[in-house]
Amino acid sequence: MKKVLVTKKIPEIGIEELKKHFEVTVLEQEGNLDPKVLDEYAQNVDGILTQLSDVIDEDFIRNHPNVKVYANYAVGYNNYDIQAGKKHQVIMTNTPDVLSDTTAELAISLLFAVSRRLFEARGVIDRGEWKTFQPTFLLGQDVSNKKIGVIGAGRIGVAFMKKLKGFDPEFYYYNRKQNKKLEEETGAEYVSLERLLDICDIISLHVPLTEETHHLIGEKALRRMKKNAIIINTSRGPVIQEEALMTALEEGWIWGAGLDVYEREPYVDKRLKDLPNVVLTPHIGSATEKTRDAMSILAAENIIEVLSGRIPKTPIY
Ligand code: DGY
Repeated sequence: MKKVLVTKKIPEIGIEELKKHFEVTVLEQEGNLDPKVLDEYAQNVDGILTQLSDVIDEDFIRNHPNVKVYANYAVGYNNYDIQAGKKHQVIMTNTPDVLSDTTAELAISLLFAVSRRLFEARGVIDRGEWKTFQPTFLLGQDVSNKKIGVIGAGRIGVAFMKKLKGFDPEFYYYNRKQNKKLEEETGAEYVSLERLLDICDIISLHVPLTEETHHLIGEKALRRMKKNAIIINTSRGPVIQEEALMTALEEGWIWGAGLDVYEREPYVDKRLKDLPNVVLTPHIGSATEKTRDAMSILAAENIIEVLSGRIPKTPIY
């Protein structure tokens, strides 16, 4: 019987599917998996269901020639060396589509939490500081009728825009390619990164992490942004240069930030935690029961297909 390794506990539904076909080992550690442990467990398996914290580079692939398929439990796959995967002719898969709405919803939740200062407001109640209705207290920003800029108009970026249509925004997007259909559906305008940074009140990041997008938003970009700007990141932490972002927020170059991802996860800088105008969540973009189940099934099916000699549902290449 073929063997499959699942590097972290995922919703049971996918594991059950895998168990119908293979001998399955599920590692149940809480934090990120020690690469040495991964290396050891991967010695004799045919497929691995990985997490975004499992680094699958050329050395790993070369050292585990038995592994035919790597199925990432995420849409992002910056933990995979795709060129090495192609070179060594292994199959690599991810979990696109099933999490787009859910991740877009989190980006929108962060946006409203920042713009209406929800966590600061809750703090006032928790500390017993609320005395009466105050006309000039905890004033936030409207989302309606704003200029909203989306960096990365892939599935999640598009879902983000479509869901916000009811707030009558002016949409701008920066993307590798122009998307005429998106423009027809949302009235979005295709602009350069610089123009988007210059004019938008709300900027949401939806790009994959690549060499080109690493620190795409650094000091220069943050200094271009409007003083009232809110930035939302549900993509990957290193797309923003965190040091520069913290300075920008501390010094008021921009108004606020909603972050679900960080440069050195799970480390979150104290300077970020101390800022009132930042809402922080621990990488929960896709974290709903329905979506995590769907990701579990999709990742499992990808492995089943490959190890049964068929084409996986969502190959990366
Ligand atoms: C992804 O899928 O890439 C998310 O970041 C994890 O759910």
